[in-house]
Amino acid sequence: MITLKDKNILVTGASSGIGRAIAIMASELGATVTILGRNTDKLKETISLLTGNGHTMHTVDLSVSEDIDQLISQSIAYDGVVFNAGIVEYMPVKFLNDNKIDTTFSVNFDSSVILSQKLIKKKLLNKKGSLVFISSISSKLGVAGTAMYASSKAALTAFSKVLASELASQGIRSNSICPGIVKTAMTEQANDVVSEEELQKAESEYPLGYGETTDVAGLVMYLLSDMSKWMTGSDLTIDGGFTLK
Ligand SMILES: NC(=O)c1ccc[n+]([C@@H]2O[C@H](COP(=O)([O-])OP(=O)(O)OC[C@H]3O[C@@H](n4cnc5c(N)ncnc54)[C@H](OP(=O)(O)O)[C@@H]3O)[C@@H](O)[C@H]2O)c1
Repeated sequence: MITLKDKNILVTGASSGIGRAIAIMASELGATVTILGRNTDKLKETISLLTGNGHTMHTVDLSVSEDIDQLISQSIAYDGVVFNAGIVEYMPVKFLNDNKIDTTFSVNFDSSVILSQKLIKKKLLNKKGSLVFISSISSKLGVAGTAMYASSKAALTAFSKVLASELASQGIRSNSICPGIVKTAMTEQANDVVSEEELQKAESEYPLGYGETTDVAGLVMYLLSDMSKWMTGSDLTIDGGFTLK
């Protein structure tokens, strides 16, 4: 049985979508959960959906280093951290500029590097802890318009593997997950650049259809739990068979 009893779990970007599903499922499996995001009202909504007591929320903008410092100053040690917060902006390479590059990388990549580094330096990761990075299958494809998103996610996967090597002596594991399309607020943004018809056609290329937030959350539970104690440095695809072709 997968259990997260007696584990303190931090989930970034838990005010909606996949992060919210991860927080809810972790609480159902017995974890005490800390959630963060920028939208206080949505974080409160997530908190109201958690099972059990003692869960906390922090309004944090991960692109602001002082916000990360504030979170770290709470000095709570974690048994698991899910680096889930992310943003996407669709744009052909010819329209990119320094600002666009920084915006995506600062949330999708830099913030995870900075947060994990601060947790390590302050010894706020418990022995046998588990780090889970939410990357994306976009990092393995080459979909036009996703240059910054795909690149930031590829960087995240690589970073997770390096951490796995550096933290193994402390029994801390690090793995990344590459989900295919899961319908959330993030994928709704695709409606701005792709027609409903195209989205439906794209779904037909998924042998098992698009995913649900709980499909990804279930895999995260396994990685956070001691059931996966021999797994580190892995990069797991969960995409309803999309990349079978
Ligand atoms: N949905 C998919 O098809 C799919 C596929 C592959 C990978 N992913 C990845 O899965 C993760 C979750 O995405 P989702 O689909 O669940 O999208 P979502 O519903 O838009 O959730 C994104 C989360 O990230 C948080 N966030 C964004 N910028 C932040 C910042 N500067 N500081 C703190 N939190 C921030 C948002 O919270 P606030 O708005 O409250 O800040 C929100 O909770 C992302 O990393 C995404 O790249 C999604």
